[in-house]
Amino acid sequence: MTDRARSFDQAAALYADARPDYPAAALDWLRPATAHRVLDLGAGTGKLTRQLVDAGLEVVAVEPSPQLRAELAAYVPEADLREGSAEQIPLPDADVDAVLVGQAFHWFDRERALPEIARVLRPGGRLGALWNFDDDSEPWVDALASVTGTQARASHRAREVIASEGFTDVATADFPHGQRLDAGSLRRLVQTHSFYLVQDEAGRAEVVRRIDEFVASHPDLAGHESFVLPYVTRCWRATRR
Ligand SMILES: C[S@@+](CC[C@H](N)C(=O)[O-])C[C@H]1O[C@@H](n2cnc3c(N)ncnc32)[C@H](O)[C@@H]1O
Repeated sequence: MTDRARSFDQAAALYADARPDYPAAALDWLRPATAHRVLDLGAGTGKLTRQLVDAGLEVVAVEPSPQLRAELAAYVPEADLREGSAEQIPLPDADVDAVLVGQAFHWFDRERALPEIARVLRPGGRLGALWNFDDDSEPWVDALASVTGTQARASHRAREVIASEGFTDVATADFPHGQRLDAGSLRRLVQTHSFYLVQDEAGRAEVVRRIDEFVASHPDLAGHESFVLPYVTRCWRATRR
């Protein structure tokens, strides 16, 4: 794993609380209607795991970072939590009905991860990857992204390629979503992103200063107790041959 992929360790305690959840419609679209046993790959602190367990699924969560696993174990004790990675999944062949990947597929070594994901999926099973991107078609969100330097912007994302030999029926869909925030929770949200976490102390302090200034001065936000940060939840799915 790269330093950037590992940077989330530092925000482990903040993450589950600060990040947005995923729209239920997106999770329904990603998994087969008959799915029972699913793998949450790159599960982090359990943001997606929590929603999958609450939807009544049997969930195995695989996560390489010990710090994030410790958070997940406390946040979603119902999940079967395992140490592992996308390139080395600690499950037998054809073990799960779906592999779901929240906000993590771009960190994987795709050449190695896709055959490994295909191995643990039963034939006809589903790979689903999803990301919450800031919806920068909203002018203040576009302006905020310039202030913070965030890369999580819907219009800037390259297409994620999940097609490979083992899969068929690749499809994508977008779901609108939003998160109610105030100045403090927006600051905490930014503090969980890798572009913030990889900076030194001075760089981090400067990002926080710019966010506070932005919230206090932008006409759409200034004077409001709270506001909704709009997202586009972009989903990719593919079916195991
Ligand atoms: C932005 S977090 C997303 C966590 C969680 N899925 C969620 O929805 O909140 C990215 C996660 O990918 C994990 N990760 C990075 N590289 C990985 C790899 N090669 N295999 C599995 N997980 C990986 C990180 O440890 C981290 O937990």
